[in-house]
Amino acid sequence: MNIREVAVIGLGTMGAGIAEVFARGGFAVTAIEVDPDALGRGMAILDGSLARAVSRGKLTQTEHADILGRIRPATVLAEAAPADLVIEVVPEQLAIKQQIMTELDRVVRPDAIIATNTSSLSVTAIAAGSAHPGRVVGMHFFNPAAVMRLVEVVTTVRTGPAVGRAVTELARKLGKTPVQVTDRAGFVANALLLPYLNHAVRLLETGYATREDIDAAVTESVGLPMGPLALLDLIGLDTSLAVLEVLHTEFGGTRYIPAPLLRRLTAAGRTGRKSGGGFYDYPAKGTARAAESPMMHNEDQPPPPGTITLIEPEAGHGSGDRVGHGDGARPGGRHHDRAAELASLIAAAGISVTRNPAHPTDLAIVAVGPEGGVLAAAVAAGRGADAVGLHLAGQQLAELVPTRLTSASALAAAQALTGGLGLRSVRSADRPGLLAAALIYPHLRDAVAMVADGYATAGDVDAAMTLGCGYPRGPMQLLAEFGPERVLGVLRAMQAGYGDPAFAPPPLLAEIALAGWLPAGLSTVGSSAAGNEAAGRETAGRETAGGEAAGHDMTGHDMAGPEWAGGTAAAQPPQRGT
Ligand code: 3HC
Repeated sequence: MNIREVAVIGLGTMGAGIAEVFARGGFAVTAIEVDPDALGRGMAILDGSLARAVSRGKLTQTEHADILGRIRPATVLAEAAPADLVIEVVPEQLAIKQQIMTELDRVVRPDAIIATNTSSLSVTAIAAGSAHPGRVVGMHFFNPAAVMRLVEVVTTVRTGPAVGRAVTELARKLGKTPVQVTDRAGFVANALLLPYLNHAVRLLETGYATREDIDAAVTESVGLPMGPLALLDLIGLDTSLAVLEVLHTEFGGTRYIPAPLLRRLTAAGRTGRKSGGGFYDYPAKGTARAAESPMMHNEDQPPPPGTITLIEPEAGHGSGDRVGHGDGARPGGRHHDRAAELASLIAAAGISVTRNPAHPTDLAIVAVGPEGGVLAAAVAAGRGADAVGLHLAGQQLAELVPTRLTSASALAAAQALTGGLGLRSVRSADRPGLLAAALIYPHLRDAVAMVADGYATAGDVDAAMTLGCGYPRGPMQLLAEFGPERVLGVLRAMQAGYGDPAFAPPPLLAEIALAGWLPAGLSTVGSSAAGNEAAGRETAGRETAGGEAAGHDMTGHDMAGPEWAGGTAAAQPPQRGT
């Protein structure tokens, strides 16, 4: 199929971005938005994005004008008549999308492809609105469409094979990396991303941590490009809410129940960047205010303490040290290693450290692990009021964990300590799963569960999150780096602590932890995808041409052979991490 003319229906944030991508790719684009005001706003978004590219030296003024010249704004659906491909990017409501399919039957040529950019709705159900479901396909872009490399090509049991192939090829022509998926709520990326974002909202509304600390916990520990709350503002809270509702209907369970705060903010019209405010404020529409520093600034901060008592939680405190056969179970275990690391770090800063809790010092630091449990250790040491937990999550980030007994002065002293050590600090509740682990580990759990379901391979999962959401490494790669056993232990602590089966590790994760098995080629999947992208090349692996090339059947199962193989990644020492 030779696609030259494209019609984009709906010119919101995503529609404008998609229209821009097609126009930059040399296609003639009809941009259709029935509301003239919304059309004007969409064209302004598009123009602004091109102007930004000009200001960054990525486009010339002439190219800017040429690209705009390829876009024909329109307010009636009939203007889609000449298109070889129509893509609808209207709000996430099945009835509206089905209605558009029905109307398009009367407008477009019989051989035109009809694509939907739905984030999570069933493409099969959307196609039911069309008299020709064989030509309906999902073509799911990621925000900002001009930047993110992933396009999920969603085929249904009705989609004609030539249609899937044509859209896959088209995505390549646009400079994107297509990943073919079958029709399941949220596909790969959103089914993983949204529950993680939703959990971040829950942590905020339950006072687990502040907005800035929640975002810093993942950008600073794992290097994700944005924190979850800033990302929700980018995606749009209303869109995120709609996706979660679809996920909850399909999968059930607490993880997809939209956090009440997400509903409230959406109801209040604080839908994110596009409305000028969501979790953060964006004074000029579409322009993010400089995020507040996630560092704990305190003008009156005392000088760092001169003497510190280092408390090592008793072996067995925190399930991360009791699970499986890894180093956590040996005498002393990880608590011991953590305490030793902290002791040398603090001593190197010229602060005197003692391990004797009875010895009077300025501050007691509990060398807590990601499974939490500061209070028990502080009480056992008789240092309830002046003990603060400290966990190093990544090279630059310290999680400070005050308990219900910690005094304000002890917390201030701990903040001064981490500042003096040159660490950025975030504050976490003393709960099973400190802040970074509470955010990231259930996310990794979901990725393993998706692989265990047979919906996606480990390679798909990592490609989706690196190319679609800018992760430096995909979830399966992160699992290998943190150590499956550690992740398993924290998840079990969270499951036991909250009594929520949403945190229950899937059996596959326990198997990986016990057997030391990781998906074959895991250590290269995420990095090669990212590396290829950086080099402007297409990614190998699950990227397919209509699904056939990589040997995947309609359910997404890998038909080429066993997916799991004895890997080496599990044998690597876990990184200092969440
Ligand atoms: N439009 C066009 N280009 C944009 C842009 C936009 N809205 N925002 C950023 N860019 C470009 C910039 O021009 C710059 O390009 P250049 O390197 O060629 O000059 C590049 O992106 C980097 O931009 P900045 O330096 O301004 O900002 P950052 O380095 O902070 O990157 C970001 C911004 C690309 C948005 C990055 O933070 C990121 O990757 N965030 C993750 C986004 C994500 O997860 N998206 C997926 C959301 S899920 C989704 O969309 C699915 C849906 O169904 C819900």
